[in-house]
Amino acid sequence: MRVISVTNLKGGSAKSTTAFNLAGALTELNYKVLAIDLDPQQTLSLSYLGVGQPSVPLSAVLMEDISPANTIVRTKYANLFAIPADQKLKAIKDGQVHIDGGELRLRSCLRKASQSNNVVLSEFFDWVIIDCPPSLDRLTMNALVAADLVLIPVDPGAGGRTALADTVKYIAAAQKWYNPTLRIVGLLINNINTNTVYDQTTERAVRDIYREKVFRTVIPSSVRIREATELQTPAVYCEGSEYRRYAEVYRQFCQEFLFRVGVNGGKT
Ligand SMILES: Nc1ncnc2c1ncn2[C@@H]1O[C@H](COP(=O)(O)OP(=O)(O)O)[C@@H](O)[C@H]1O
Ligand SMILES: [Mg+2]
Repeated sequence: MRVISVTNLKGGSAKSTTAFNLAGALTELNYKVLAIDLDPQQTLSLSYLGVGQPSVPLSAVLMEDISPANTIVRTKYANLFAIPADQKLKAIKDGQVHIDGGELRLRSCLRKASQSNNVVLSEFFDWVIIDCPPSLDRLTMNALVAADLVLIPVDPGAGGRTALADTVKYIAAAQKWYNPTLRIVGLLINNINTNTVYDQTTERAVRDIYREKVFRTVIPSSVRIREATELQTPAVYCEGSEYRRYAEVYRQFCQEFLFRVGVNGGKT
């Protein structure tokens, strides 16, 4: 089991879209994936995956000593499971409630689940993808402490680059104080229109600073990618020739991701 945190301070930088489509692409390769929605806005779980609430909400698992196994729900894809977000996560995010274990809480929940009743999380799941809220808060720190890898979707515009610098600083703090083995797997440039000079320039600006950290694959701006989330269907599973190009882009990104983490191809 490897844990990926999808993190960027900026809202609208395609974190949830990336988490959703990477989860889809990994399940297409036969991996078992657990998508955790850590954003109280519930975009990934409610809007994109379209899953309902589990018997025990995630916030309760973080606040009380309950196994996270109770928070896992199925999705319409056999290999894709989810831990939905709930609105009470906001109180944790804003520091209004105390949680035992603080920044280490999610990490310990995921590890502890390994020993709980019949669910051996680390044996069952190949990948855990955590979708972070759009801020550098306690929930995001919990994700960075729980993760092996951090994936940063990037909006390459000027505001996006400032947010990116702050995000990278926050990740460095997580590495320094809590999780020295956390690795930035890469920056994924999203939502760009490669035909415009403005977007070409902003892409170059990100590549000039972050160099080989930036994935070669870029995710183009397209209404089809928006539609896929409306359909609650990752691009790789969308039917219709109009989606083919975007399915291929996400497959290519997934291959590049797997190559970077030293895994070739899929699971047989
Ligand atoms: N490649 C893309 N092309 C067009 N729209 C996109 C693309 N990626 C994301 N979006 C849209 O941008 C908005 C923000 O994306 P989202 O993934 O929810 O961002 P975040 O989770 O970082 O706040 C959504 O409306 C989403 O549909
Ligand atoms: Mg989001």
